[in-house]
Amino acid sequence: MDTTRAPPPSVLFLAASLLAAALGWLIVFAARRPSRRRSARLPPGTTGLPLIGETLRLISAYKTPNPEPFIDDRVARHGTGVFTTHVFGERTVFSADPAFNRLLLAAEGRAVHCSYPSSIATLLGAHSLLLTRGAAHKRLHSLTLTRLGRPASPPLMAHIDRLVLATMRDWGDPAATVRLLDEAKKITFNLTVKQLVNIDPGPWTESVRREYVKLIDGFFSIPFPFAHLLPFTTYGQALKARKKVAGALREVIRKRMDEKVENGGAKGEDDEKDMVEELLDAEGGTFSVEEMVDFCLSLLVAGYETTSVLMTLAVKFLTETPTALAQLKEEHDNIRDIKGKNQPLEWSDYKSMPFTQCVINETLRVANLISGVFRRANTDIHFKEYIIPKGCKIFASFRAVHLNTEHYENARTFDPWRWQSKNKLQSAVGASLFTPFGGGPRLCPGYELARVVVSVFLHHLVTRFSWEEAEEDRIVFFPTTRTLKGYPINLRRRSDSVV
Ligand SMILES: *[C@@H]1O[C@H](CO)[C@@H](O)[C@H](O)[C@H]1NC(C)=O
Ligand SMILES: *[C@@H]1O[C@H](CO)[C@@H](O)[C@H](O)[C@H]1NC(C)=O
Repeated sequence: MDTTRAPPPSVLFLAASLLAAALGWLIVFAARRPSRRRSARLPPGTTGLPLIGETLRLISAYKTPNPEPFIDDRVARHGTGVFTTHVFGERTVFSADPAFNRLLLAAEGRAVHCSYPSSIATLLGAHSLLLTRGAAHKRLHSLTLTRLGRPASPPLMAHIDRLVLATMRDWGDPAATVRLLDEAKKITFNLTVKQLVNIDPGPWTESVRREYVKLIDGFFSIPFPFAHLLPFTTYGQALKARKKVAGALREVIRKRMDEKVENGGAKGEDDEKDMVEELLDAEGGTFSVEEMVDFCLSLLVAGYETTSVLMTLAVKFLTETPTALAQLKEEHDNIRDIKGKNQPLEWSDYKSMPFTQCVINETLRVANLISGVFRRANTDIHFKEYIIPKGCKIFASFRAVHLNTEHYENARTFDPWRWQSKNKLQSAVGASLFTPFGGGPRLCPGYELARVVVSVFLHHLVTRFSWEEAEEDRIVFFPTTRTLKGYPINLRRRSDSVV
């Protein structure tokens, strides 16, 4: 849930580029001076051009399939994993150091707090899980963990199984071309809606989805100054869409509240509870409607993009690594053969997919869907010989750690076997390096659910289909990690597949 992605540029950034262009080169030379004088013990670094800083360099690096030099060069130049730069309108301390990252994650709510650009905050709503702090955050976070953190519940597992199969049934027979990312998005959206409000796909979900897609676009748009006043911009559209989605959720929540009053609070089994029901019951029913709306909306946003990109990239990496795909197929064919035809997957099946879990971890490690998180110092922070002053923005880069050759052998190749048992990655040190879901009080509460969804998806995909890339596609990392074309593939049903 800690969905700070490669950061959308702040409002300042465009204003800044204009200004800088106007002022010209004179100032550029003045600014080349390292920022050492004013802040003697800040981590080393240069802050680049005035106002824009190194934003353009960062963006152009992350728009290529290999953004690593942006960090590699700076780490090499300064000889330290923690350096200072200036991005998105602000001086920022960048961390590629696993120990410092760990410290930052654990210190959430104390020495640091999370920090999001205001354009994002407005879209999410003040009560969303990402923006609440302190006691309110703790309550909401533990609620989400109870809800999402137990995908072992039989109805949820069965539902994921049904949904994945229903989506695949819509693909042509015997052959079809699909954009895999679109299909993955259908699955994650329908699943989240079902979990939040227990509504099956239909006209309601369809109308919500149309608005929702515009809302999501808003997160990745570049919000230039006053974009919120301009209804025709992507960001302006997203704000409008947010109102509609929130309105639809509010209606559902109000209706549920009324029903609850009528039935005197009686309801079904615990396992069958959806998120709205959990919220209505939580804290003796003290959450306000607006709190519940923001909360549901943020969950709808959080799992959608990340889980669907994870599914797509797992397939892309497997396609490019035939030996891994063959081993994965074998694992799943075995499960299918033991189960017999048309038996839904169960929790015990999920637990007997060790290689699949290696593939998922490796996809998370290489792709870095969440490249890192922004924090802001609440106090002066001492780390090694540096002081990061109170108020300073900090970016803890998970990506830089996951792709560091000192920590992972051949760090920049997809190698699922590195996760096999008895490997050193299973040790405490290994665990402390690998933070694809963040950590500390803001650990993503959906981490297990995401794994289950991807596993079930891979199971049905490899036991039913073979495929090849329909067009060449490539990965980019800005504004988020995704493939440029949504990964179009040509699918053929396996002759031995059950439909
Ligand atoms: C998922 O939801 C969409 C939109 O509401 C719908 O068109 C589609 O049929 C649903 N898919 C499944 C498998 O239920
Ligand atoms: C995958 O990563 C998680 C941490 O996110 C770890 O607990 C698990 O052991 C890893 N799985 C494998 C097969 O290494």
